[in-house]
Amino acid sequence: MLASGLEYTDVLIRRHLYPQTMRRRLPFVMGYDVVGEIDQLGDGVRGFQIGDRVADMTVVGSNAAYRTLRADRLTRVPVGLDVAEAATLILTWTTAYQLLHRAARVRRGQRVLVHGAAGAVGQALLALGRLAGLDLWGTARGAHAALIRELGATPIDYQRDDFVRVLAGGFDVVFDGIGEDGYRRSFAALKHGGLLCAYGYSAGVQAQRRMLTMLIWIARLYLWRWLPGGKRARFYSINAMRARHPGWFREDLQRLFELVATGAVRPRVAERISFDEIAEAHRRLEAGGLQGKLVLCPDLKR
Ligand SMILES: NC(=O)c1ccc[n+]([C@@H]2O[C@H](COP(=O)([O-])OP(=O)(O)OC[C@H]3O[C@@H](n4cnc5c(N)ncnc54)[C@H](OP(=O)(O)O)[C@@H]3O)[C@@H](O)[C@H]2O)c1
Repeated sequence: MLASGLEYTDVLIRRHLYPQTMRRRLPFVMGYDVVGEIDQLGDGVRGFQIGDRVADMTVVGSNAAYRTLRADRLTRVPVGLDVAEAATLILTWTTAYQLLHRAARVRRGQRVLVHGAAGAVGQALLALGRLAGLDLWGTARGAHAALIRELGATPIDYQRDDFVRVLAGGFDVVFDGIGEDGYRRSFAALKHGGLLCAYGYSAGVQAQRRMLTMLIWIARLYLWRWLPGGKRARFYSINAMRARHPGWFREDLQRLFELVATGAVRPRVAERISFDEIAEAHRRLEAGGLQGKLVLCPDLKR
């Protein structure tokens, strides 16, 4: 293992608020994604050699020094790419890329609102949205306004301003990984025919809601399409999309590796951490205020 990202989703998994892993009981090894170097090959594996650099999204198990992976789930990591930057692309940036281009299928010039814009997925949505020629707004705490502007979007201070009133006529698309008030105001901020792509429920986790409450929020999104106004809402899950379209996951991750290799985008790594710092990293993720990703680099000595 060379690098494994730590993400807010790890907090959900640890608190048993993540549908896919909620039945797991401790002890188990966490770690959502991995960049590593092949150390051994299983019988019959073709197309890979010892020493090849590869990536996978594993959901759990990658905060480890070694692990076993299925060859048919691996994506090659180009030589020369920084391993921590490469790790940020697996869950976080692939989520943002698929939200834009697979779920919402955005078009140049559309007016788009991104919640949690200073967060990991939020920053990736702004950077990739800018490449796609979108007109972007981002909600974040006031202290992050400069970062949001630097990423090419208009900042909205979520502690002071009302994003529903910012744009007369409403947004074409809203991306919401927070779920404040069960996505109601995000839906209200859409124009006629607009699309809400919900993908997370950090606000519910912070407020210590039960899993059932969040599942009700998600189910309700699909009922709202029957309301007048022609607005639509859906929930995106990277795992559900990977299960349906495994080829898209590999294709999109490879595209992101290319974008970083050519310098078209630059993911922010807030800090590279060692194994000893993982517990503290979870506290930092829960406290908020980070401006980039924490990445476990097992070779790092404290
Ligand atoms: N469905 C999927 O496939 C998928 C994939 C990846 C992630 N996710 C989910 O998406 C969510 C975001 O992930 P992430 O990795 O980007 O988390 P993150 O790095 O913690 O970012 C979340 C951001 O939201 C901000 N925030 C908190 N409350 C807010 C509010 N009321 N209004 C606007 N912004 C607010 C935080 O800002 P402050 O720092 O100012 O508090 C933080 O910058 C998580 O719930 C995660 O589980 C889902």
